[in-house]
Amino acid sequence: MNTKEIVRKILGNKFSKKLGKIKRNSSNLVLLLNNSYKDAITFYKHSMVFELDNFNKIESKIILHYHAIEKGFLHENFRYRFGESRVKELIILLKDKDIVKNNTRSQVAVAYLAMCKYYEKHLDDGIDISDFYSREDYEFFRNLTVLNNEIIKTHNHDDYFKNNRSDFLVFSKSRSSVRNFTGEKIPFNLIENAIGIAKTAPSVCNRQPCRVYYIENKIKIDSVFAIQQGLVGYSDNIYQLLVLVADKNYYYTVGERNQLYIDGGLFLMNLLYALHYYSIGACPAHWGLNHDKDKLIQNELQLSDSERVICLVPIGIPNESFKTTLSLRRENEEILKIVSS
Ligand SMILES: Cc1cc2nc3c(=O)[nH]c(=O)nc-3n(C[C@H](O)[C@H](O)[C@H](O)COP(=O)(O)O)c2cc1C
Repeated sequence: MNTKEIVRKILGNKFSKKLGKIKRNSSNLVLLLNNSYKDAITFYKHSMVFELDNFNKIESKIILHYHAIEKGFLHENFRYRFGESRVKELIILLKDKDIVKNNTRSQVAVAYLAMCKYYEKHLDDGIDISDFYSREDYEFFRNLTVLNNEIIKTHNHDDYFKNNRSDFLVFSKSRSSVRNFTGEKIPFNLIENAIGIAKTAPSVCNRQPCRVYYIENKIKIDSVFAIQQGLVGYSDNIYQLLVLVADKNYYYTVGERNQLYIDGGLFLMNLLYALHYYSIGACPAHWGLNHDKDKLIQNELQLSDSERVICLVPIGIPNESFKTTLSLRRENEEILKIVSS
């Protein structure tokens, strides 16, 4: 008789099963706390939240700021001098000697371009910004700029969707995040069709943890965006919103504690392509927020406590003419790493 069998004999079947459960749960709890602690430490060390102490982190900050400048160019009524504090910080970051040395690297190059466009727009329209962005800085950036294109893409509705039934190479390049909508509603059956495609996304062991909440109550939509704050200035004409969540009930080991973001991310990408396929404009809007905000959206939408928001997806019919950000992608050499044998 082994120890397990002896314990079972002494304590009885029911009690020893309970004991086994307590043992399993306590060791999983220790594992969870230990791993969550390590998650926190590595995030502390390697994210850009606490220190900007290496090239990648500085590049990341640069992307954050140049993308906000791109987005500023989307507004129909250009808001002169927008993003002054970002521009000031970019001026410092873009003069860093490591950054200057990397002026041809995709994300640095496009940041120089965005800064030039920002200056030139104000210059052309006779708006003085010399109190925070000097001509000397502009010329310095101009000399380092290797790109010669616009930082926004201008579309008209029909052209934008003309490739949404093409082969994948053409189709995938034809989708952009759309933030300007007419305010007309997309018929619900098209949204159902898009969900039908989105759910073909793979998920871990086919557990399919994603759910999509559909909202067309404008007051609720505005409340959600008031919590999220990532689409300020673009949400007036949003009358339909999808909220993608993943349910933690579907995860069974501590190692899977972040798996919902993989399953959710795959579903999200499939959903974005599916919406594009049905000529529906959409812009993913992040839910990179903390627990206090989770509680607010849970209450607003009556989500279950086990459901975590993966992303908001406002949808609508794009305006007859609209703009999207360039959002230049990295070169393959910046992404593809070959492991030497
Ligand atoms: C998870 C996620 C969150 C995003 N959050 C926002 C957001 O809060 N506000 C916004 O304007 N764009 C948001 N975007 C859109 C990105 O800015 C956009 O996808 C990126 O610049 C690439 O451009 P593209 O989608 O037009 O190809 C988000 C995108 C993703 C994937």
